[in-house]
Order: sequence, then C-alpha cells, then structure tokens
Amino acid sequence: GSWYDADIDHVIISEAQIREKTAELAKQVSADYAGVTDGLLLVCVLKGAVMFMADFARALGRQGPPVELDFMAISSYGQGTTSSGVVRILKDLDRDIAGRHVVVVEDIVDSGLTLSWLLRYLESRSAASVEVVALFRKPDAVKVTVPVKYVGFDIPTEFVVGYGLDFGERYRELPYVGVLKPEVYARA
Ligand code: PRP
Ligand code: MN
Ligand code: MG
Repeated sequence: GSWYDADIDHVIISEAQIREKTAELAKQVSADYAGVTDGLLLVCVLKGAVMFMADFARALGRQGPPVELDFMAISSYGQGTTSSGVVRILKDLDRDIAGRHVVVVEDIVDSGLTLSWLLRYLESRSAASVEVVALFRKPDAVKVTVPVKYVGFDIPTEFVVGYGLDFGERYRELPYVGVLKPEVYARA
C-alpha cells in the first residue's frame, strides 16, 4: 500500500469505479454535443476538479467534439470541512466565453453554494449554454438546488478526500475517494 492508506478509514469509490464512470460520462457528453462545431469549452473548477478534468478531457478526446480547456480557481471552504458560502475568485477565465457552449467540470457538489454562484457568474458572461458535469454529489447536503446534468456518483454526507478532494490541501493525490480516520482530524 501507499503512505496514505494508513490515514484512510475506508474507501468510498475505487480507482476502477472512477475510471469506468468517467468514460460513461464522457460518452454522454460526447453524444449530447456532437453537433457543436466550434468546440466545447470545458471549465475546470480548481483545485478540486484537476484530476477529473484531466481524465474526463482525455476520455472525451477519444470521441469528440473538440474541446478547449479553461480553468477557474474559486474557493469557499478554506481550511475547514464545511462550506462558508463566501466564494472567492482566485483565478478567472482566460478568455471570453460569450456564445460558447460551456461544460463546468466539478469534482463534487456538496451544499451547491460554489456551483450556484459559478453558474450565475458564467451566465452573466453570455455563454450560449452552460451545463455541469460533477463526479460526485452529496444529495443530503444540498442547501441550494443547482441543475447538474451529468452526475457520476451520489455519495453519503460524510467528509471525503482523494482524487482532487482535500482536507487542508492534503490528500488530493489519492487515486480513490475515501473517508479519513478520526485520529487524522485530531492531529490537525
Ligand atoms: C470544494 C469542492 C467543490 C466545492 C463543493 O472546493 O472542490 O468545488 O467545495 O462544495 P459546495 O457545493 O458546498 O460549495 P473548495 O472550496 O474546497 O476548493 P478546492 O477545490 O480548491 O479544494
Ligand atoms: Mn473545489
Ligand atoms: Mg477544498
């Protein structure tokens, strides 16, 4: 095992499950946007979505349509385990999205606060369309209803780490998603 296995209480979603689901989601998006000739604009929500963006874009690349990648860094959690609801833009889009078909790539929808803020922001920039693909969703925790067209896994309302998801910036590099042992929080 790897160093991090010792900090994980149990795995929620395995590496193989993530790989399979990512291919499925890419297939759906590919079919839905087959007619988009000017290319799809994937907007990754850094930092959490970085792993999913890389794998999802490659899966999509096998089937088309052509994509462009852009990145936004926004943060609502800071160091804690619950959303503050206050969203800060740490890095904005590089290019104008007016008239573009945009797919927001997120790792997880928890309270929905980050996404509902982001969707309003992208719509105010006159995108032709905006949809969301999120690998994980916590259905019980939704405080704000956000339309997420493509969802990978519904997971329980527990704090999870791995595959981009962090606890105090750590554990993003885990290839799976899991729950930390209680003593890890006690140490922090
Ligand atoms: C996490 C996660 C989502 C968001 C979901 O990001 O990556 O972007 O929170 O939570 P919500 O639905 O309750 O808003 P975070 O703010 O921790 O920043 P990070 O991606 O850099 O870790
Ligand atoms: Mn995030
Ligand atoms: Mg975070």
